[in-house]
Amino acid sequence: MAMLDGVASIRDLELEHQRTFIRVDFNCPLTEGDAPEVADDTRIREALPTIRLALEKGAKVVLASHLGRPKPGQPDPKLSLEPVGARLSELLGVDIYFPQDDCVGEAARKVVRELRDGQVALLENLRFHPEEEKNDEGFARQLAEFAEVYVDDAFGTAHRAHASVHALPRLLRVRGTGLLVEKEIAALSKLLDAPEKPYVAVLGGAKVSDKLGVIEALLERVDALLVGGAMANTFLAAKGVEIGTSSFEDDKLALARTLMDRARSGRGGRSVELLLPVDVMVAGSTESDEGSIYDVQRIPRGSMVLDIGPRTVELFARRLAGARSIFWNGPLGLFEKPLFAAGTNGAARAIAAASESGAFTVVGGGDTAAAVHATGEDVASKIKHISTGGGASLELLEGKKLPGVEALRGARS
Ligand code: 3PG
Repeated sequence: MAMLDGVASIRDLELEHQRTFIRVDFNCPLTEGDAPEVADDTRIREALPTIRLALEKGAKVVLASHLGRPKPGQPDPKLSLEPVGARLSELLGVDIYFPQDDCVGEAARKVVRELRDGQVALLENLRFHPEEEKNDEGFARQLAEFAEVYVDDAFGTAHRAHASVHALPRLLRVRGTGLLVEKEIAALSKLLDAPEKPYVAVLGGAKVSDKLGVIEALLERVDALLVGGAMANTFLAAKGVEIGTSSFEDDKLALARTLMDRARSGRGGRSVELLLPVDVMVAGSTESDEGSIYDVQRIPRGSMVLDIGPRTVELFARRLAGARSIFWNGPLGLFEKPLFAAGTNGAARAIAAASESGAFTVVGGGDTAAAVHATGEDVASKIKHISTGGGASLELLEGKKLPGVEALRGARS
């Protein structure tokens, strides 16, 4: 894995009696209400192998994460990591020491000082300090006092140059990757460096502008790009299709045309097939409880597109069936509502089927992973890799350097 050349792995680090700071990404959805609980523990489960390995090696483990996006400098009790600690304790089968209120300061220092080998502490939400997102060296120094060794297992946050991800590791001479970061980079690098062809990417979600970098990078590598979700509306509108009251990006029509031209002209004389919906499910509004299928050329003026239609699912499924490598990011409709989930579920099934025929299949992004799980029918277990990182997986596939990985280089193992 070229991306990890010069980076140590937790497997090679000496951790016995060492206070080991493991940056995890426990940015998990919580339930609403006065006593929130973890609504989806995927990210906690995915960090368990690294935590278990550190414990087997005799470390004193100090875990740290952000949760949500609290307003800068305003600790929000609704975004406390305490419920995450409770779930982690159940999954790991050990007590988790949780200093209240603050990830640094006297209470945290005391908990960390008193940790014994094989024990685990979880610090409070790092983003309760605005210095975290500013990559502040002083804040990183306070965190550095808690450990001799640094391990990064927060793949979902690897694209953020934040203090606990970027400034901190450079202050600790012994540092390396956790097992989840290694697994994620191995899977995604395969798509970046040497994807088996045909390579097909499926992109959905709200905006072309959010994914511009990755669309441009994918157009250099894929054989076909299948587009759904509200993003497809912008492409359809750019082609002059009447899309009713559907959401789209008015100021990105020229950009969409440029991308379609680039796909057509391709590279080395070979064009990239850019497939857009040919039929769609429309309704009066996102609140409607009934919808109708229309050909994209016949979308009624007062209605909005909320899913791809069955002919599009078939078209996409046929293209996916022949693929040897597949990447998918972004739901193809308003999948949270069962009425508008058929397109997203259909894509998930088609990708799972391609996986069973031997394709290397990768799904990235919280919503897309949730959609894969919501499809049921064992679809999730058939996908070769479901990434815990949304933005991080897209930036990696764009070919960008991830600050969280770069900060690990040049260490002593
Ligand atoms: C994510 O959920 O994508 C990561 O935890 C990063 O969170 P952020 O987008 O709030 O930085």
